[in-house]
Amino acid sequence: MKIAILPGDGIGPEIVDQAVKVLNALDEKFELESAPVGGAGYAAHGHPLPEGTLALAKAADAILFGAVGDFKYDTLERALRPEQAILGLRKNLGLFANLRPAILYPELAGASTLKPEVVSGLDILIIRELTGDIYFGQPRGVRECPDGAFKGQREGFDTMRYAEGEIRRIAHVAFQAAQKRDKRLTSVDKANVLETFQFWRDIVTDVHKEYPDVALDHMYVDNAAMQLVRAPKRFDVLVTGNMFGDILSDQASMLTGSIGMLPSASLDANNKGLYEPSHGSAPDIAGKGVANPLATILSAAMMLRYSLGRAEQAGRIENAVKAVLKQGLRTPDIYEEGTTKVGTSQMGDAVVKALAQ
Ligand code: IPM
Ligand code: MG
Repeated sequence: MKIAILPGDGIGPEIVDQAVKVLNALDEKFELESAPVGGAGYAAHGHPLPEGTLALAKAADAILFGAVGDFKYDTLERALRPEQAILGLRKNLGLFANLRPAILYPELAGASTLKPEVVSGLDILIIRELTGDIYFGQPRGVRECPDGAFKGQREGFDTMRYAEGEIRRIAHVAFQAAQKRDKRLTSVDKANVLETFQFWRDIVTDVHKEYPDVALDHMYVDNAAMQLVRAPKRFDVLVTGNMFGDILSDQASMLTGSIGMLPSASLDANNKGLYEPSHGSAPDIAGKGVANPLATILSAAMMLRYSLGRAEQAGRIENAVKAVLKQGLRTPDIYEEGTTKVGTSQMGDAVVKALAQ
C-alpha cells in the first residue's frame, strides 16, 4: 500500500509530520512518499500542482494532504495560486464525494460557542459534491456586460451547473452513508431560486426511490444555515453541492468548537481518496509548533478505513485521540482552564503513546 504524502504550506508540514508519526507507529508498515504541493509546489517547480506530484497522487492508493495557501502567494495569477493544487487534485482524480463529519467530543463540549445542550452529542456528516457546481462550471471570467442597467461595463461571471449523472452519483453516496448511520438524509438546495438546484432536488428525489429505508427531506440552504446553529442535532447526513457545502461544512465544523479536530475524505468512484483536515493552512501560526494535529491524524484514520480497508487500525487511532483528550491534553485552539496546554509535536507523541496502550 502506497500513500502519497502532500504536506503543502503553512502548518501543513508540521501537522502532517504528526500523522506520519502515527502511521509509522502502526504494526503494519505503509510505503510513504512525499511531494510538494501548493505554494511549496510553486516554489520548487513553478506550479502549485507539479507534474511529479500529480503523478504520485495518481499512482498512490491514497493521499494524505496537509493544507495549502500562504499570504505570499496571494498576488500570483489565479492559475498559479496554491488553491489550484487542491482543486486540480479533486478534478484530475475525480474526487467527487467529500465527507466532512462534525463530531463533538464530550471532553470538548465547552469549546463550542453554542450552549452545551445544543451541541452535546453532536454527530453529523456533511457530504459535499466536490467536482461540479459553480466551482468548475464554464464559461467564467470577466467580460463586457451584455445587457441590463450596467450594459457595457465590465462584469465578473461564473456558471452554476450540475449534470444529472453528477447529482445521481453523489446522491447514491449520501443515501448509502445514511444507511450506515441513523438513516436520515437532508438534501440542501436553493430550489426556490436556482434552476440548477430545482434539478438537483428532482434528481435526489428520484434516487430516493432506491433507498426506501432512508428518510429524505429537502431544505433550502439559508434555512439549513439557520437550523445548523438552532438545532444541529436534528441532522444526521446532509448532502449538498460544492458551493453550499463549502460554506455549511465550515459552519458545521465550528459547532464542535474547533475546526482543528475535524478530518475529511474526498473519494472517487472506487473509494480511492484524498484525506485532509477540514481546516486551512493557518500561515499566521505556521512554524510555531502550536497547530492542532488531531484533524490530520483523524484524517489518516479515515484513510485507513475508507481507502485502505483497515477499519481496525482506524479505530485504534480514533481511540488514541479520545484517550489524549481524556488525559486533558490540549493544543491552544481547544485549551480551557484546568487542561494541559501542549504543542503540535507533543500532541502527536501523546497519540503515538496512547496507541501503544
Ligand atoms: C475547502 C477550501 C477549498 C474550497 C479552497 C482552498 C479552494 O475552502 O476545501 O473547503 O473552497 O473547496
Ligand atoms: Mg472551505
